[in-house]
Amino acid sequence: MDNLIFLDNGATSFPKPEEVYKFMDSFYRNFGVNPGRSGYDLCMETGELVEITRKLLTKIFNGKDPNRLCFSYNSTDALNLIINGLLKEGDHAITTTIEHNSVLRPLYHLYKYNGVEVDYIPFDEKGFIDPDEFPKKFKKNTSLVIVNHASNVIGTIQPVKEIGKYCRKRGIPFAIDSSQSAGKIPIDIEDLNVDIVAFTGHKSLLGPTGIGGLYVREGIEIRQTRAGGTGVRSAVRTHLFEYPYRFEYGTLNTLGVAGLHAGVKWIEEKGLNNIHEKEMKLAAMLRDGLKDLEGVILYCQDDLKDHIGILLFNIDGLEALNTGTILDVDYNIACRTGLHCAPLVHEQLGTDKIHGAVRFGIGPFNTEEHIKTAIRAVKEIAESHRKRKGIR
Ligand SMILES: Cc1ncc(COP(=O)(O)O)c(C=O)c1O
Repeated sequence: MDNLIFLDNGATSFPKPEEVYKFMDSFYRNFGVNPGRSGYDLCMETGELVEITRKLLTKIFNGKDPNRLCFSYNSTDALNLIINGLLKEGDHAITTTIEHNSVLRPLYHLYKYNGVEVDYIPFDEKGFIDPDEFPKKFKKNTSLVIVNHASNVIGTIQPVKEIGKYCRKRGIPFAIDSSQSAGKIPIDIEDLNVDIVAFTGHKSLLGPTGIGGLYVREGIEIRQTRAGGTGVRSAVRTHLFEYPYRFEYGTLNTLGVAGLHAGVKWIEEKGLNNIHEKEMKLAAMLRDGLKDLEGVILYCQDDLKDHIGILLFNIDGLEALNTGTILDVDYNIACRTGLHCAPLVHEQLGTDKIHGAVRFGIGPFNTEEHIKTAIRAVKEIAESHRKRKGIR
């Protein structure tokens, strides 16, 4: 791990701030009991951190009721709760080709096994969805519009405010997948006309794996699709309907909540905009360093306005997997290659036919030195590939 240049922050943020490791360790040693199940002091104190974190995240999303902030295991889990809880046989949903499999697959399952109809809106050549395409697809039975806020493949931030405006006018629930955006850019659900937001803790919110959640705006009702223990009102035969219990089943990942709490506090202290600004400066440096290299193809990186620090590229004629292996073995650079769990993005870019592309994901602990090394590495790999192939 020594001297590793970690440019795989799109998959998960690494390392975490020191404060996250320390807080998790101390929390679990001192408060590692099951909250909400009993009345003794330690149990109450553990529960208090859960409620403080609910409030903290509700504030981040500009929600009104912390009880409507429910914890899940990750965004995949939250997205499944949303999609399966809002759609039933005969319904119609609208999504985009920029989605992650955590949206595409639950929707595909509903299409295949429950007859739910799904429309997919493609992105343009710059990587953005046109909001005006949504009303053209609205039907009487449209019960959900769900959109990836920031792409995990090409980094583009979608115009969710405009999409949400159309949905609100028609009274169609509008959900966003904030897996890549939460912790990187502000998400004000009131301003953005968003009804439901799914988030994951281990990416830009700088928490550990195994924690995520959803916030559901007042007035939006999602059916429960699971049932189990809640620790309260045990005699009730059905799963509790009220929030947050409606979407919380079994023992909470309190250690994850603690780490997430510390991650969010760290972001608050450093300033979300400062972190994003620094990351985008590095992203611009990386893009500028790669864009004129012979044999290097960049995807959707012309204008970094409305982007997060994710950059997709290929070395012409070299499999992405091989580029990734050389980056790892010869330069100690960690990146992500392949289809990035978003097959429709690659289908649209045409990179599915060449087994995907290489992704660099910038995080808060990357430095200019990291970026310079990454540019030099890609340059040398491209040159050596051209030499081997006898390309002048
Ligand atoms: C856009 C997007 N959505 C959903 C997910 C799924 O996140 P998790 O694995 O934490 O559930 C990811 C993770 O890569 C993602 O980038």
